[in-house]
Amino acid sequence: MSILPRHIAIVMDGNGRWAEKHGKRRLQGHDAGMKAMKEIVKRSSALGVGYLTVYAFSTENWKRSAIEVSGIFKLLVRYVDQELQELNDNNVVVNILGSYRSLPADAVAALERALATTARNTGLHFNIALNYGSRPEICEAVRSVAVAVKDGRLSPEEITEEIFSGFLDTGGMPDPDLVIRTSGEKRLSNFLLWQSAYSEFVFTDVLWPDFSPEELERCIEEFRQRNRRFGGR
Ligand code: IPE
Ligand code: IPE
Ligand code: MG
Repeated sequence: MSILPRHIAIVMDGNGRWAEKHGKRRLQGHDAGMKAMKEIVKRSSALGVGYLTVYAFSTENWKRSAIEVSGIFKLLVRYVDQELQELNDNNVVVNILGSYRSLPADAVAALERALATTARNTGLHFNIALNYGSRPEICEAVRSVAVAVKDGRLSPEEITEEIFSGFLDTGGMPDPDLVIRTSGEKRLSNFLLWQSAYSEFVFTDVLWPDFSPEELERCIEEFRQRNRRFGGR
């Protein structure tokens, strides 16, 4: 089989527009989005993808109405409750990127249950970026590096790209080979800025709730046609 991206990262965008298009409420769009996510995790796992990172809630998404924000977290708790058993049966390792500890208590509890239950699995690494922003992540990493230097555990000369990467939420993981964004928007919106330095980008007009496993495979096919040079020739 020809090369599969080792790490796929997805900006799951377009739930609101999907809802509007179907005459539904925004939260129904997020609900449909969760269902799409469930299928994408399953297909990624079946294909043998090593890492799947999904952008579920950004540090900027707090600007939305309290009803939408709390609704998104409720849907997330329900997703974890309904899917944890199957994720675990499929050997999936759940990871969270971002400051999830400041989310509502029931969401934190559900996420910690998912982390603890799947910690020893060896299959797909499923990263959920939640209350995630790349700049706060980098700031936090810089702070940790500064503390390590101050405590004498690290010297400034030892700070390489590899060492610094280890301080990010994605520490120890490969960078995304492929970044997909749905809904026709063509921006990163504070997602994996450091990690996507050499990623291939695939943008699709499909709204996230309509993003099917077949569409995922089409994006992977597009990735396969790319010629990655990494600055060489
Ligand atoms: C993405 O869908 C989900 C989140 C950002 C939580 P949106 O809610 O951004 O959908 P649009 O962009 O309004 O269509
Ligand atoms: C990015 O989508 C964040 C997530 C998908 C969770 P947004 O819809 O929030 O991004 P902008 O506001 O269009 O840049
Ligand atoms: Mg959006």
